[in-house]
Amino acid sequence: MIREIAKNVFAVGVADPDRRHFHGHEMTTAQGTTYNSYLIRDTKETVLVDTVWAPLREEFLANLRQVVDPAKITTIVINHAEPDHGGLLAAVKHLAPNARILCSKRGTDSISGWHHADWPLQVVETGQTLDTGSMKLTFIMALMCHWPDSMMVHVGGAQCSNPGAPGRAGTNGPDVLLSNDAFGQHYTSAAFDDEARDGRLWFEAEKYFVNIITPYCRNVAQRLDELQKLALPIKMIAPSHGAIWRRGVAEVVAAYRRWSAQETQQRAVVCYDTMYDSTRRMADAICDGLADEGLPLARHHLAVSDRSDVLTDLFGARGFLIGSPVWHMSLLPTVATLLEDLKALAFKSRLVGAFGSYGWQKANVQLIEARAKAAGFDVPLPGVVCQWKPRAADLEACRAFGRQFAQRVKQ
Ligand code: FEO
Repeated sequence: MIREIAKNVFAVGVADPDRRHFHGHEMTTAQGTTYNSYLIRDTKETVLVDTVWAPLREEFLANLRQVVDPAKITTIVINHAEPDHGGLLAAVKHLAPNARILCSKRGTDSISGWHHADWPLQVVETGQTLDTGSMKLTFIMALMCHWPDSMMVHVGGAQCSNPGAPGRAGTNGPDVLLSNDAFGQHYTSAAFDDEARDGRLWFEAEKYFVNIITPYCRNVAQRLDELQKLALPIKMIAPSHGAIWRRGVAEVVAAYRRWSAQETQQRAVVCYDTMYDSTRRMADAICDGLADEGLPLARHHLAVSDRSDVLTDLFGARGFLIGSPVWHMSLLPTVATLLEDLKALAFKSRLVGAFGSYGWQKANVQLIEARAKAAGFDVPLPGVVCQWKPRAADLEACRAFGRQFAQRVKQ
């Protein structure tokens, strides 16, 4: 649905509520997603910021035509060339052949790489501006939030003299930050954060950060500093996926600060997979031990849990307990994948405890511990194993392990 989010600034993107996976099958999207594109209609310039994923061509062009004759577009800004945002660049360029394309320096590679076209591309840098008539666009490079080509656009009033801070109204301009993937969520229930009623918006925002942006936490912190230095007034943050932040501008910026610092809480998450319930029973006893110490906990049987949601739950926890039986002298694939995910996403400063059952060879706990250490985690206690089916003494050892692990998390 088209929305005029500020005077002459239109959201013309398309929702895709039935999509259940994103980036191929990298991440689950319980509510689907939206591909947000924005049109700025002004006296000197008509600017389109980003397009949408190519299969939604018909819906997108219909939205665009309701706001403007696409032939009148003078400038197309590509904040990030991945196909969910740059997918219809060729279609728009076909309708607006004279429109220039603005992008970041690295965007010249990604746009050429995705489109195999020889359009002239005009590179912009942080602080560079475009006068559109009554408004002024300011470009802000957002390197690695989430790609090397990522950038943002601030839409301010023509006289905007930068007296603001995120969350504070500053000028009579729209003061909208078109933030591309940063601050996004795969959320489709409301167009604005203050209209979200289902209690999922913040979970989806964190899930998005965890699954897409976590490896670049250091860059996010630097980019937030740069954004703060620019001191642009921001009344709204309009990302390329999900709801537009209108009430929660300062809160979402603060959340990005917190998440990028990988702040954790004193709680533990128990993740396991199991074949004949021996490892599952060990997990039960470990949970009892954590509870004995009053440590908040969550548990996930990885074979029946949503991988992206599990990672989101793990993100804020200080302690991870990871269990697998031996499987062909290795770990069950769900557990091996989790360990790989934790390494790839560059989770930092967590404590890991390992457990699992075995039959003929006990390779599991050593493997979990070695992979956890290789990912940079601390393994404060030797893990627990049991052979075949746990006896009462095995379960008591697991419970004691849970208690000791909880004490380490609380230290
Ligand atoms: Fe990985 Fe919305 O782009």
